Amino acid sequence: MSSKNVKQSQPDSINGYKSFELGSFSFRRDAYFVHISWTANNTKMSHIISADAFLRALMRDVAWGFFYGTVNFDSVFGTTNRYGSVEMFAGTYNKDLQSQNLDLLEVFDTPIILATFKLILEDWTNEGFDPFAAPAETGQKWIGQKNGSNIEAISRQRQVSQRQPGVPGDIEVRTDENGYKQNRAFADVSQSTPEIYAEPGFEEEVNAFNLFAFLSRSDVTWNPSVTSVCKESLFCPTTEEYILPIAHGNDRAEWFFQMSDQIDWSIQNDATGQPRAKVIMKAGDIAAMPADCRHTGYSPKRSMLLVWENANPELPGWYADGKLPMSPVQF
Ligand code: PHB
Ligand code: FE
Repeated sequence: MSSKNVKQSQPDSINGYKSFELGSFSFRRDAYFVHISWTANNTKMSHIISADAFLRALMRDVAWGFFYGTVNFDSVFGTTNRYGSVEMFAGTYNKDLQSQNLDLLEVFDTPIILATFKLILEDWTNEGFDPFAAPAETGQKWIGQKNGSNIEAISRQRQVSQRQPGVPGDIEVRTDENGYKQNRAFADVSQSTPEIYAEPGFEEEVNAFNLFAFLSRSDVTWNPSVTSVCKESLFCPTTEEYILPIAHGNDRAEWFFQMSDQIDWSIQNDATGQPRAKVIMKAGDIAAMPADCRHTGYSPKRSMLLVWENANPELPGWYADGKLPMSPVQF
């Protein structure tokens, strides 16, 4: 485990961005691109990612605390959550780089890699660029020389209910008044609220809210909020537009329920990135993602998706020991 702290340079004289080093990895950005470098097999390696794609992926890794399992930024670079520590890798789950020993994987204490990723995100996100927003809503402010920052956008936390939005003391149902405007793509979604008739004495226990109305007011894309919690069962609905900025390699099976419109999923082998399946999900479709795949979604129009996760911390061990089948349904 590397306990080294991040090193950061002064802003560079051409584009004004800082460079960063953590362990044996270095990170640099210019007007368009992020460059990641490492050494493997006595070879100096470098990898290039468009800065907007990198920042969108980095934003999710930071906001989700490294999520479940693996967050692939693309086919080369990413992180795997070991819950307390995090593996950062380049090429380890890319068949071509890995087979030539040109990959590198290093382990960091979670607070160290999280602090590093926050510094990079803060320095490289320009004023007016929101890595959570749909491209049509945030534009091209990510391009060019360093220009200010967008601390408000990058410090959003994802919303997590204790039980359900609207329960007293829990997260609020979204309204104009608390700053959540109905999105342009969901202008036709009814804002009616359910009528609740609780038995006397149970007024604090019985709750219902309009999930479609809640989602129609989401100001972010590809950022599940947790809207119902029942023991380890988490309902994490989200609104999607354009591309899921990561390829998620989950360490457990997860379920998708397409609640409106359409998402096309590209599914790959988790260890190698080799293509495995395409899943076209239309409104009403339900699919399970096996525990040994990675998946990226493409949403041509803003859509509503329910991600159903099981938060049981024992699950990764059960899959690793072969106690659970990788796919929850056997045909
Ligand atoms: C996923 O990786 O399963 C995932 C992540 C974020 C979303 C949707 C799905 O918004
Ligand atoms: Fe996933």
